[in-house]
Amino acid sequence: MSAVETSSGFEGALEAVAGVEGWLSDDQARRLWDAAGRVQAGGRIVEIGSFRGRSTIVLRRASLPTVEVVAIDPHAGSDRGPQEIDAEAGRGGRDFETFHANLARAGVDDKILHVREMSDAAHAAVEGPIDLLYVDGAHRYAPARNDIRDWGARVPEGGAMLVHDSYNAVGVTLAQLRLLVFSGQWRYVGRARSLAEYRRERLGPGARVTDALRQLGGMPWFVRNCLIKVAMVARLRPVARALGLPDEDDWPY
Ligand SMILES: C[S@@+](CC[C@H](N)C(=O)[O-])C[C@H]1O[C@@H](n2cnc3c(N)ncnc32)[C@H](O)[C@@H]1O
Repeated sequence: MSAVETSSGFEGALEAVAGVEGWLSDDQARRLWDAAGRVQAGGRIVEIGSFRGRSTIVLRRASLPTVEVVAIDPHAGSDRGPQEIDAEAGRGGRDFETFHANLARAGVDDKILHVREMSDAAHAAVEGPIDLLYVDGAHRYAPARNDIRDWGARVPEGGAMLVHDSYNAVGVTLAQLRLLVFSGQWRYVGRARSLAEYRRERLGPGARVTDALRQLGGMPWFVRNCLIKVAMVARLRPVARALGLPDEDDWPY
């Protein structure tokens, strides 16, 4: 498949992902773009959870050519979205095919390393430290916690981690509370809706308290997202809209 012509820069990346299904909003794509653009030549970006390639394309297009971009996704049809937890080979196979077709159309399929494994089985396939880690794989508590803890441990000081569906998916938010909110090892930088950004840093006691308070300030937004989901499951769309779900979205993220 030949690559489609797009403009350069962030606008070009948005054009490249315009038809790519996924859960990455434009403001979140911007935050990913900026973080990837800060990775130095020869560095490494690891993404956990690629789905059909929206975030993968943004990460690849934002980063220098000598930066390695690794995309870890088993494409097993499991933990695929909010209500698709169980594995289903046909669904996973279609995601795998579409992922590579989307990457080829964006001109980046031969410029990423796709590891088709569950993240906890993929460590040996990725050598060395990680400058930017993007966590968007399974959103249940245990796998989200393991991704943040075990892959996060591979990010050295000065590196970055971005976590999607924080303050949104219950499992991810619990993992965030357990590992990040009171951590003395990650500084909370900010968020684009559910995309939270952290920098690996050692925090003193005062900075730890300030950092925790800043993160806890996002909890009302988490509660609001939970209420929106209850309303959506109960087919009360007007209530979800009244709670702030944008017209173009069917689920908060
Ligand atoms: C929310 S989607 C990722 C969305 C993607 N980042 C985007 O921009 O559209 C979650 C993905 O995680 C993958 N996944 C599920 N379990 C995983 C695991 N244990 N390790 C890595 N990826 C996993 C699923 O196959 C699915 O494609």
